[in-house]
Amino acid sequence: MKLKTPPMGFNTWNTFGECFNEEVLIETADAMADRGFLEAGYEYLILDDNWNMEWRDPETKRMIPRPGKFPNSDILPTFRHIHNRGLKVGVYSCAGVRTCACKMGSFDYEFLDAETFAEWGVDYLKYDYCLHPELGDGETLYRRMSLALRHCGRDIVFGACNWGWDNVWSWARSAGVDTYRSTGDICDNFNSFKGIFQSQVMKLGSSAPGCFNDMDMMTVGMEGHGSNTALFEGGEGGAFGTEGTYRIQFCVWCMFQTPLIMGCDVRNVSDKYRDLLCNRELIAINQDIECRPAFPVSFDTSLVYCKLLSDGTFALLFINDDDKERLMSCITHDIGYTVGSGYKIHMRDILSGEEMVQGDFPTVKVPGRDCRIFKCKLVK
Ligand code: GLA
Repeated sequence: MKLKTPPMGFNTWNTFGECFNEEVLIETADAMADRGFLEAGYEYLILDDNWNMEWRDPETKRMIPRPGKFPNSDILPTFRHIHNRGLKVGVYSCAGVRTCACKMGSFDYEFLDAETFAEWGVDYLKYDYCLHPELGDGETLYRRMSLALRHCGRDIVFGACNWGWDNVWSWARSAGVDTYRSTGDICDNFNSFKGIFQSQVMKLGSSAPGCFNDMDMMTVGMEGHGSNTALFEGGEGGAFGTEGTYRIQFCVWCMFQTPLIMGCDVRNVSDKYRDLLCNRELIAINQDIECRPAFPVSFDTSLVYCKLLSDGTFALLFINDDDKERLMSCITHDIGYTVGSGYKIHMRDILSGEEMVQGDFPTVKVPGRDCRIFKCKLVK
């Protein structure tokens, strides 16, 4: 099995859109290694769309790295640098004839592309769904690349990106896919990522070791920066993520055990967000070896989630989507707890360290547009 827990890394799309090159990638690799991201577990550096040309080499039929980005179309020095810094390399292609940015896709050349990626030392492939022939159904196209990757002679994580279309959660595992994007593209505002995670609450049971539900690259720490303007559309009056809503995003991505792929500019993201993204206890929830899906335990807006952990404890996440501070509760019977058991619930706020003991109807104060996450255990 390639993936026992969700993959962690960085992807160029959120911050750089189509504008990245050798220099940016080398600086990013250095930042991942030097600023503590790699140590926290972020190991994949993934090049998204627009690393290759619109055509293939007329003789070899291989994809061609863009010479304007990689001198002489030689992408290998960049990949070597990424590997030398202890990271793994990810690239992007598409099940269609062209990628979403109209560069060369892998349709009909899946086996050659898989062989080429293996030869180049690629460790992860993000595989998009634009411009695929309507007659070749998606499941078959993903099965085809999956088979090609399984025979290319290298362990390459297969990240499918068909935006949740064609009931992907029902066939991704059988097709040999390692992660499957389950929604459309994220934007850097609360409405966008709230919509994304709420759409997946009842589908988390399909996400497990070997094949994880991918809710898209995180926007934590972007604060409106980046050349990919598409990321900043659709907010309430153009609002970006805030400290509180970034906390919500990261905690949900951890609780829902979705790949932790950063999208902010790791070279200069503030220490505050670096520390959030590298919080060991939150990452441990995401990487928990039992991979049990989170479930809702709230009677009103379904914004309280519980996740059982392999050390016998459980995590409780309270999300306040209101502008104002409010008291939030959850129905602990939904976790399996009864007052008659004689136990109380010991709760430790992972981010503030505050400890409390509560009973039947735990109630906590949560700031507006923010969340609190607790590690909980039963005590006599
Ligand atoms: C699609 C994907 C994005 C990104 C772009 C690149 O929209 O969903 O994550 O890869 O294509 O063009």
